[in-house]
Amino acid sequence: VKSSVVSVDGPAAAGKTTTSLAVAEIFDMKYLESGRAYRVLAYEALRSGVDPTDPKKMVALCSKISRGDRVSELLGLNRYTAGELRSLAVGRTVSKVAGIAELRRRVTNSVHIWAAGNRRSIVEGRDIGTVVFPTAVPKFYLTASAETRARRRLAQEGSGSLKEVFEDVVRRDRADTTRSASPLVPASDAIIIDTTELSIEQVVDRMAEACGASG
Ligand code: C5P
Repeated sequence: VKSSVVSVDGPAAAGKTTTSLAVAEIFDMKYLESGRAYRVLAYEALRSGVDPTDPKKMVALCSKISRGDRVSELLGLNRYTAGELRSLAVGRTVSKVAGIAELRRRVTNSVHIWAAGNRRSIVEGRDIGTVVFPTAVPKFYLTASAETRARRRLAQEGSGSLKEVFEDVVRRDRADTTRSASPLVPASDAIIIDTTELSIEQVVDRMAEACGASG
């Protein structure tokens, strides 16, 4: 089977998950949230007291997590609850973990293995259209103002104050765009959608149109 991938990248809380799930449903594609892998690594580091900035220790932890079934354990397809992976503590730690190049290599490898089993899939993250699947078609880059994104995240998850959530969003934007390993940047051929003034339906319509056009 030839596998083809649609990529959806962009900063935290730009609406990637909600819209990607809707597009996946319309076109009967498999869906993967690659950020789960970095969250699994952050969660396990916090749980076992491993320093999330220590590449050697984090790589050892990664090997331990993926010892059984490398792909589904690391991608967080089993076991983890939303509460575990989406806590503020994990949110604060995840960008540190995501800056470690060897971990990115391993996550990328697992995503490739996952996608190879599917005819068509939609993969969401930060570096999907630039690094993980440079040949993805179409590529989307979703963004919105930081305040809008903080408000949406708070409305959806309801943990913490607006100030805390806003600060988490801004901190992660900074960490994700300035890291040396695969920084967050739109691919040169990405369709950029600023969702600040758009409804979910409007964003999904635009995405679906582009996906339909690319077969
Ligand atoms: O998408 P989500 O907000 O769950 O991602 C959590 C974190 O994982 C991001 O802030 C980023 O640091 C990291 N990430 C990444 N590359 C991806 C997906 C997520 O670096 N492809």
